[in-house]
Amino acid sequence: MYFYGMIPQDTVNQILQAAEISEVVGEFVNLKRRGANLIACCPFHNEKTPSFSVSPAKGIYKCFGCGKGGDSVRFIMDLEGFSYPDALKWLAKKYNIEVKEKEFTDTELAAQNERESLFIVSEFAENYFREILLNTEEGQSIGESYFRERGFSKPMLERFRLGYATDSRDDFARTALKAGFSAEVLDKAGLVSVKENGVLLDRFRGRVIFPIHNVAGKPIAFGARVLKTDARAPKYVNSPETDIYHKSHIVYGIYQAKNAIRQKENCFLVEGYTDVVSLHQAGIENVVASSGTSLTVEQIRLIGRFTDNITVLYDGDTAGIKASLRGIDLILEEGLNVKAVVFPEGDDPDSFIRKVGGEAFARYVEQSQKDFISFKTEISLADIGTDAVKKAELIESLVASITKVPNPVKRQLFYQEVARLLNIDEHILINEGNKLVAGQVHTARKNDGGRVSPPAPERNLEMEFLEKSDSRDEEALVKDLVLFGQVKIGESHVLADYIFGETEADILSDAVLRAIYKQYREFYTRGEAPPDRYFVSHPDSRIQETVINWESPKHELSKHWKKYEIFVPDYRDFLGEIITKTNFRIHLLRIKKEIQEIIEQLDTEDEDQEVILQEALRKKNMEKMEIAEFLGSVL
Ligand code: CTP
Ligand code: MN
Repeated sequence: MYFYGMIPQDTVNQILQAAEISEVVGEFVNLKRRGANLIACCPFHNEKTPSFSVSPAKGIYKCFGCGKGGDSVRFIMDLEGFSYPDALKWLAKKYNIEVKEKEFTDTELAAQNERESLFIVSEFAENYFREILLNTEEGQSIGESYFRERGFSKPMLERFRLGYATDSRDDFARTALKAGFSAEVLDKAGLVSVKENGVLLDRFRGRVIFPIHNVAGKPIAFGARVLKTDARAPKYVNSPETDIYHKSHIVYGIYQAKNAIRQKENCFLVEGYTDVVSLHQAGIENVVASSGTSLTVEQIRLIGRFTDNITVLYDGDTAGIKASLRGIDLILEEGLNVKAVVFPEGDDPDSFIRKVGGEAFARYVEQSQKDFISFKTEISLADIGTDAVKKAELIESLVASITKVPNPVKRQLFYQEVARLLNIDEHILINEGNKLVAGQVHTARKNDGGRVSPPAPERNLEMEFLEKSDSRDEEALVKDLVLFGQVKIGESHVLADYIFGETEADILSDAVLRAIYKQYREFYTRGEAPPDRYFVSHPDSRIQETVINWESPKHELSKHWKKYEIFVPDYRDFLGEIITKTNFRIHLLRIKKEIQEIIEQLDTEDEDQEVILQEALRKKNMEKMEIAEFLGSVL
């Protein structure tokens, strides 16, 4: 029995079967019928004419504008930012399917219950602090008036569930105990501290409360700000790390911002809780805060679930700029696009937007935002002057940033930009970049037994293209396996028999394709075939995306394949075609593997041997060309 997260496989199947794609998507999007499909404006990016299509027959959706696609589960994951198990649970609830958790071991059950109780007590605390803020004398006169002074409106207090904690030792602890929560759970949730004699002390006292929510909107932690600027008390007291709160994995405001981020296709990143609330107040809702710590990879990936574009809005002081520089490299490494905005000295986003208002703020951001190259270059050039050594250092750090960009086309453009800005030959920069990457390969090998794979050295785009067309043959083979593996060839065989009879997984160089191949083969060796939609509903998003692309109408099937879809009994006349193509494809992949092996030997052998190898290589390459040409002509 398989478990995804903690949900038994048969429950997963039940959910997948119930979750009819047009119903699930239709809950969020206005779908219109067009032929066999349904269409709408894409909920994942901004558009006026619909390019978002839902296929009830295939159980998938696909946007031809932004490329997002998947099944019902993926839709909920993409839209709500949920994990795979959370999306399944969401669907289970919609379809009244009970998610049995009987399969838990006792310890798992205890852990599960404990996490659950932390969620519950956090929600209790959030409500408690809100109640104090809105409905008590002390809350209103101190807490509410503080927020009012900062310009936070009632709807903002509501949206961010802001609260107030009284200035007493244990008001909260006593209320929570009375409500039935144990001292242990209050402690584990970080809401109290327990003294040696067992006495409970409230963690948050005499402060306004900013609850921190997860993507699903549940409170998981709290930040509490002092009211007076008193140098003796820390400005914020925050929840400690708990079983449900990992500071480095969450950004403040993601729940309130996620829809706007998706709509605007951009996320503003600020430092403070107050910046987030202030921007919302002024009508700018695509904003989250890193909460004063340096940005982490997990935080970037969380934002990346909703957009590829981040604009860093940090304070205009040097600490702010330094913090944004570090964050920028990390964002680049994750393959997202990043821009940066610096505010006038002494201003942060909160103070600036209160001064000028939402519209002027947006205009300022629009006009002064810089891509990371210009940003880095400009702030550095200011204090470099004519110092050649410092200029060289700047170039090196720019090149280092560029090597972190995963997309080769973007890298090329950035090299061009630096070349232009600093008046240096582009090839020198690319060369520097390659050296840097080579050095990283070296150290990575040394440190980690070679397991780390650093970015590939710069190659020309033509090379990249050739490699792509190589990987297309691999892809075609696995695609035929997935789509037509069960098509009968001859009396008692299916295409899968043929493919598995002739190949091993190692003929494939691409990791995702290999994974698909292997999983199919696991079913095959048990005498089964993967269930309908097995790969389309796969929890590994890379597998799922790959297969969705094959299923989608974007890659039109050739006339023959179409014919197969329509006239099932008549597919025999092109069965020969499938087999021939598969046959040649396998042959081609084998030759490619042999060529690779020859190339590896070339490095080490002596001169005589080298001549022989070169000749072998030439022959193999010719053979490869011939087959490729043949395949090209029948495809
Ligand atoms: N922070 C913190 N602990 C501190 C200071 C700051 O956790 N002692 C975090 C908080 O998440 C805070 C963020 O860093 O929101 C940014 O700090 P700062 O700009 O000082 O606070 P603001 O929330 O912006 O408050 P204010 O606008 O009142 O200065
Ligand atoms: Mn601030």
